[in-house]
Amino acid sequence: MPPLPPGRGVLWLGLVLGSVWVARENAALANPPADALNILLIIVDDLRPSLGCYGDKLVRSPNIDQLASRSLLFQNAFAQQAVCAPSRVSFLTGRRPDTTRLYDFNSYWRVHTGNFSTIPQYFKENGYVTMSVGKVFHPGISSNHSDDSPYSWSFPPYHPSSEKYENTKTCRGPDGELHANLLCPVDVVDVPEGTLPDKQSTEQAIQLLERMKMSSSPFFLAVGYHKPHIPFRYPKEFQKLYPLENITLAADPQVPDGLPPVAYNPWMDIRQREDVQALNISVPYGPIPVDFQRKIRQSYFASVSYLDTQVGHLLSTLDDLQLTNSTIIAFTSDHGWALGEHGEWAKYSNFDVTTRVPLMFYVPGRTTLFPEAGEKLFPYLDPFDSVSELMEPGRQSMHLVELVSLFPTLAGLAGLQVPPRCPIPSFQVMLCREGRSLLKHFLFHDLEEDPYLHSNPRELIAYSQYPRPADSPQWNSDKPTLKDIKIMGYSIRTIDYRYTVWVGFNPNEFLANFSDIHAGELYFVDSDPLQDHNVYNDSRGRELSPSLMP
Ligand SMILES: *[C@@H]1O[C@H](CO)[C@@H](O)[C@H](O)[C@H]1NC(C)=O
Ligand SMILES: *[C@@H]1O[C@H](CO)[C@@H](O)[C@H](O)[C@H]1NC(C)=O
Ligand SMILES: *[C@@H]1O[C@H](CO)[C@@H](O)[C@H](O)[C@H]1NC(C)=O
Ligand SMILES: *[C@@H]1O[C@H](CO)[C@@H](O)[C@H](O)[C@H]1NC(C)=O
Ligand SMILES: *[C@@H]1O[C@H](CO)[C@@H](O)[C@H](O)[C@H]1NC(C)=O
Ligand SMILES: *[C@@H]1O[C@H](CO)[C@@H](O)[C@H](O)[C@H]1NC(C)=O
Ligand SMILES: *[C@@H]1O[C@H](CO)[C@@H](O)[C@H](O)[C@H]1NC(C)=O
Repeated sequence: MPPLPPGRGVLWLGLVLGSVWVARENAALANPPADALNILLIIVDDLRPSLGCYGDKLVRSPNIDQLASRSLLFQNAFAQQAVCAPSRVSFLTGRRPDTTRLYDFNSYWRVHTGNFSTIPQYFKENGYVTMSVGKVFHPGISSNHSDDSPYSWSFPPYHPSSEKYENTKTCRGPDGELHANLLCPVDVVDVPEGTLPDKQSTEQAIQLLERMKMSSSPFFLAVGYHKPHIPFRYPKEFQKLYPLENITLAADPQVPDGLPPVAYNPWMDIRQREDVQALNISVPYGPIPVDFQRKIRQSYFASVSYLDTQVGHLLSTLDDLQLTNSTIIAFTSDHGWALGEHGEWAKYSNFDVTTRVPLMFYVPGRTTLFPEAGEKLFPYLDPFDSVSELMEPGRQSMHLVELVSLFPTLAGLAGLQVPPRCPIPSFQVMLCREGRSLLKHFLFHDLEEDPYLHSNPRELIAYSQYPRPADSPQWNSDKPTLKDIKIMGYSIRTIDYRYTVWVGFNPNEFLANFSDIHAGELYFVDSDPLQDHNVYNDSRGRELSPSLMP
């Protein structure tokens, strides 16, 4: 076992192991300890784990890979619902969609369901200065048009001014005119305001870090990046990293034969873009012409590399400000995105490609040794230099984990009391959590001592769900509003398989009827890792061990 880092590492261990925790359990929580760790939470929009650190051989993501090399990375992390607002409200409140009752974009949990505390609110109430930059909460009704201010944030959240151009005609087409396209590589000096939202968010976050450097309070800074969410509006030079001839199609670009129609989502949103409309693609199944499939994949990957540079600038600022030894960094995404797998081009499903997310935590002195004076842990890396292959992987866990675990895990890593487990139901309980705390994974430098190694990984489950308005794909199958939901697909992922049942759902009572099964899916990880061969019918009546309800 490598030696424990000195000083703060031991103190941190003490905090986590509980003696200090227990003592503080009933204390007034408003004054954080003088050495409280800061939190930098990076949330990326629609980022599947197409990253070097997740084994992707094509994508250039050296800065995120470098973060991974100093972090504990979870290989099997899953979102609870593969669409933006429900996923974010779920992990930011630490409750599943069946508790937030947000399956669409149209309600605010505090008035619709229960006055649930959020992660940033909890840190704020514990003496942290909490700040939101970019897309953290989904904007609009689901966060009361205020990103849940004032409850979650110490200051009004920041939104980049250039965000308003995302869906306007700013993409130069082959005809020389400006269009509202899906594929939108731009010359940044030519776009309105001469900048892009994620660049502005990085600049704002850097300014806030500079200000917090002077502050005596610990901070919780959440930075929400927009790319690689559609439209793929990114600095055009990033295309050069991905010559079209090097872009492959998805390994399984066909709609699978045994896929129940209710499981398929017709990706209506990308069809609205001018360049896609011009292709006159058949609804609901497509396909998209293969040369355009390559272009979509190229632009997604280029957007990821652009995002990576923003993460790189942000993290190198932590080094420059000497905050790396006192700041926990968590990096994740709200859900994945299908890039042609199963003939799909979006989120909105229960497949691994849309529910699986990157998830990693850098904890100073725990996931890596403390930096020596003057040592930089996160120097900016240029994706145009071929450095990423040289990156050492950091620690990795193969255990199944869920985004609802973010709340207890961040609280625990910071040395705050971990909120108690939620009772069932928990609508009246303001502060509790439905996810497992992942703290145990961080306690041991030596993997041999990881207590989870000796637990049965087959007992771990990640739950996801997705609503549908009908048994067959139709105009609103991707994003049904609450009143239109007739069917809910409940899905469990274990280390061995993914099992989904689509059952009747009553949106007035929020009741699923597990006697009313519309369809089922079962895929085994070993024999069918891409989930193309549904063996549900072959195994009906067979007992699958874990329960379908969390
Ligand atoms: C909800 O919780 C917030 C934060 O604790 C509190 O300020 C507010 O009064 C609560 N609202 C209701 C209706 O209980
Ligand atoms: C939601 O926002 C409105 C308008 O700002 C405000 O009046 C209302 O109190 C907010 N709701 C809650 C629960 O804070
Ligand atoms: C494209 O593929 C070729 C052949 O594998 C390789 O030599 C080249 O480096 C690749 N280009 C880029 C930019 O990755
Ligand atoms: C499974 O059985 C159902 C009901 O009999 C049928 O509609 C469906 O096509 C079958 N699916 C597969 C993959 O064989
Ligand atoms: C679009 O496709 C449909 C059938 O897929 C065809 O009937 C129609 O003529 C096409 N329209 C254009 C403008 O190509
Ligand atoms: C972090 O490192 C800086 C520079 O080496 C040092 O001044 C500071 O005291 C360290 N902070 C902690 C909490 O160890
Ligand atoms: C649940 O579904 C079954 C089978 O379709 C039906 O007989 C039953 O009435 C349903 N229960 C409720 C409460 O709707």
